[in-house]
Amino acid sequence: MATLFDPHRAGAIPLPNRVVMAPMTRNRADRDGVPTDLMARYYAQRAGAGLIVTESVWISPDGHGEAGAPGLHTAAQAAGWRTVTDAVHRAGGRIVAQLVHTGRLAHPALLPPGAVPLAPSAVRARTETRTFDGLVPCVTPREMTEEEITGAVDAFAAAARRALDAGFDGVELQGANGNLIHQFLSGNANLRTDGYGGTPAGRIRFALETVRAVVAQTGPGRVGLRLSPGSDYGDLAEPDLPAVHGALLDALAAEPLAYLHLIEGPDPAVAALVRERWPATLIVNPWTGDAPTDPLTATRRVATGAADAVSFARMFAANPDLPERLRLGVPLNDPDPDTFHGGDAAGYTDYPRHRAAVVGV
Ligand SMILES: Cc1cc2nc3c(=O)[nH]c(=O)nc-3n(C[C@H](O)[C@H](O)[C@H](O)COP(=O)(O)O)c2cc1C
Repeated sequence: MATLFDPHRAGAIPLPNRVVMAPMTRNRADRDGVPTDLMARYYAQRAGAGLIVTESVWISPDGHGEAGAPGLHTAAQAAGWRTVTDAVHRAGGRIVAQLVHTGRLAHPALLPPGAVPLAPSAVRARTETRTFDGLVPCVTPREMTEEEITGAVDAFAAAARRALDAGFDGVELQGANGNLIHQFLSGNANLRTDGYGGTPAGRIRFALETVRAVVAQTGPGRVGLRLSPGSDYGDLAEPDLPAVHGALLDALAAEPLAYLHLIEGPDPAVAALVRERWPATLIVNPWTGDAPTDPLTATRRVATGAADAVSFARMFAANPDLPERLRLGVPLNDPDPDTFHGGDAAGYTDYPRHRAAVVGV
């Protein structure tokens, strides 16, 4: 029976344990989306993870959807990330960049002057975007032309190339939580009648083209894909989820991905569908209601084979040495939600390690 502390190979990336750090947008990059030295320290502190998945990283100026989030389309951003990957590798860790295009979740305040957010269709998300002036309602996006869709695929591929050049061990494509790839999969944000909408084959096309273009840059085994089937995050609805996600999983099985990263929802049938249809490494972010992922649930997912590895978000924010704490069975620090988004070192790099807590330093 597998445990969280057994090694596992995710494509070309060897994981020394199965405790993965889930992506978390912490909004501490500079105004140009350049990662800071503080971010390098934060990620290096968490190098004991089997794998670190960074916060969402925007791939192009039109994909920017959150103030304080980092990008990866300029030389300065790539140089900032090099500092992060070097720090993580020096500390013995592995790190992949979560690449995102936010589509209709972007906002004109974050885009180049005069630009409006791009999306599969001109349907406004009834939710909010975090700008430098705080949370504001999303606007109605503009429907992408086929040329713009190809441009977004190319931007993902270029960002993946830049990620490897900046020292990342791979990339994770953000296909979850209402972002552009997820918008194409959905039934209410994608109303297209061309080859990128309508049937399941049309709705999965953008995801597949992106996966293939990115793998062509990285080589096999270095690309993960995050999915949150059925999640209404970002105001999405997926009435025909089994057909669309089933078609996607079947098509993905032929692609040399490093892993699939599933955010479970409340319906266990969806997670079962994914496990059944996905033959390779599956990282699961378990459904635990409003509570953070807990050690017992994580242990069970790996022991039953429901997951090859488990990702923790909030508990990794609060416990830089989470795998070691889990192995020793020592108490965990509680996360402080007030310091999740933006700010300085407080609630970011100042959570104590367990040994430090014991000796009081
Ligand atoms: C502060 C914060 C920021 C997040 N940012 C991202 C993100 O950038 N990309 C992503 O895919 N998920 C993001 N998530 C979702 C987490 O990866 C995870 O799915 C969720 O927190 C549930 O896991 P947990 O119970 O272990 O915290 C974020 C969650 C939190 C709490």
